[in-house]
Amino acid sequence: MLGARGGWRALRRCPSSIFSSSSSSSSSSSSSLPREQRVPAARLRVRQALGAREAAGEVQVQGWVRSVRSQKEVLFLHINDGSSLESLQVVADPSMDSRDLTFGSAVEVRGKLVKSPHKMQNVELKAESIRVVGPCDALSFPLKAKERHPLEYVRQFPHLRCRSNALGALLRIRSEATAAIHSFFQDNGYVHIHTPIITSNDCEGAGELFQIETSNETQESAEKNHFFNVPAFLTVSGQLHLEVMAGAFTHVFTFGPTFRAENSQSRRHLAEFYMVEAELSFTESLQDITQVMEDLFKTATSAVFSRCPRDVELFHKYVAPAQKTKGRLEQMLKNKFVTISYNEAVEILKQASQTFAFKPEWGCDLQREHEKYLVQHCGEVPVFVINYPYDLKPFYMRDNEDGPQRTVAAVDLLVPGIGELCGGSLREERLPFLESRLQRLGLSDAYQWYLDLRKFGSVPHGGFGMGFERYLQYILGVDNIKDVIPFPRFPHSCLL
Ligand code: 4AD
Ligand code: MG
Repeated sequence: MLGARGGWRALRRCPSSIFSSSSSSSSSSSSSLPREQRVPAARLRVRQALGAREAAGEVQVQGWVRSVRSQKEVLFLHINDGSSLESLQVVADPSMDSRDLTFGSAVEVRGKLVKSPHKMQNVELKAESIRVVGPCDALSFPLKAKERHPLEYVRQFPHLRCRSNALGALLRIRSEATAAIHSFFQDNGYVHIHTPIITSNDCEGAGELFQIETSNETQESAEKNHFFNVPAFLTVSGQLHLEVMAGAFTHVFTFGPTFRAENSQSRRHLAEFYMVEAELSFTESLQDITQVMEDLFKTATSAVFSRCPRDVELFHKYVAPAQKTKGRLEQMLKNKFVTISYNEAVEILKQASQTFAFKPEWGCDLQREHEKYLVQHCGEVPVFVINYPYDLKPFYMRDNEDGPQRTVAAVDLLVPGIGELCGGSLREERLPFLESRLQRLGLSDAYQWYLDLRKFGSVPHGGFGMGFERYLQYILGVDNIKDVIPFPRFPHSCLL
């Protein structure tokens, strides 16, 4: 595959007249020179070629064939290399056709970019040579030319589905969204921290941990002789490590893989997912946290929509048209998110005419059906629910002191079609409060280091985590979380 470096190096050799923007490289045509003195063909990515003007020099494009149409006098190909949703049209002499030139085959085409007579494209590649680099048996290849394969179908081929239009678009969006999230934090003065993937703490205390052991340890010996001398797990959240760093850098974030041993058969849960987490020191109000959540969401989403409009359009038009995702999101980006308290949420649910499978009661967790109703009730917009019952939330959340251990300064962001997208809180920064809570839970020894943070320069602080896959599901209207990850997992079968 063409590396980015190779591509840009080649681009510098490319005659300047090809590109709309001016370039300092030579613009002389090489075709009249003896062969050995000719400027070598400039290697172009399909995206670059599509954005180019007609040009005199020879170019080379590599990619996979998306369509072959052989007519009596002309052979048409469409080549895609993953750099854009659109493929480059190649026009060739029918004598260049061969048995190996099939849908899915890898090719290298040399020729000239010429003005295209078609309205849909500026240029096409007039081929001077076509080399099949890797043939593809179109009959047994699971993807078929000109078919819009449903996401459920391509999910069966985790190793090949990235060559379909929908997954190609999704993975480019995922890449842009990752960059946009990093930019948001970097632009706002946050320091990026790589938090550990292997840890011995269970931040959320929900017991959804994957324990790790070396491959030659039996279950029995692992208990006696742990590699790290203590049981070790795959991280469920980088929050506690971020709190350490917030005590030195004020504003920090992390964006990495997170693991939960919970039912990954659901449309919203994965065993391995990516979480964006931020921690802010010198923060006394939950509203400061919700403001960052809202700004992050809006800034990243606007950036994704403007950087890959065609990829996003594919989802809004063809994958999730029924959900009217685009209009709803555009509206949402303009309006302020709604905030209600947990108390208000329970009242709204109690007054609902709808009957719920789980009766809404103060003190009970909000179920999926409750979250759905609340979002509908507020007009199908994102809703912050704040100040949850003390007993429902993990040990690190700050007591609101509105009664004996009644509520904590917690927030969940609920969004249409998904439910919980983000979870956050103010953290309990007061040593006596934290000490007594950890003591009641029998966790004081394990969390001595965490208590130290409250002994040495403790400050009011808070933060949040956003599930990256749920974020993508929401902005694209994708129903199943397995369709927004590069490699879907099937439990009890081979993991790629
Ligand atoms: O609400 P959670 O459990 O919050 C925390 O872990 C905090 N320690 C984060 C923090 O404050 N730094 O998880 C945060 C988000 C959820 O709102 C959800 O979007 C996502 O992570 N999430 C999952 N996404 C996919 N599959 C799963 N199994 C998920 N579990 C949580
Ligand atoms: Mg949560």
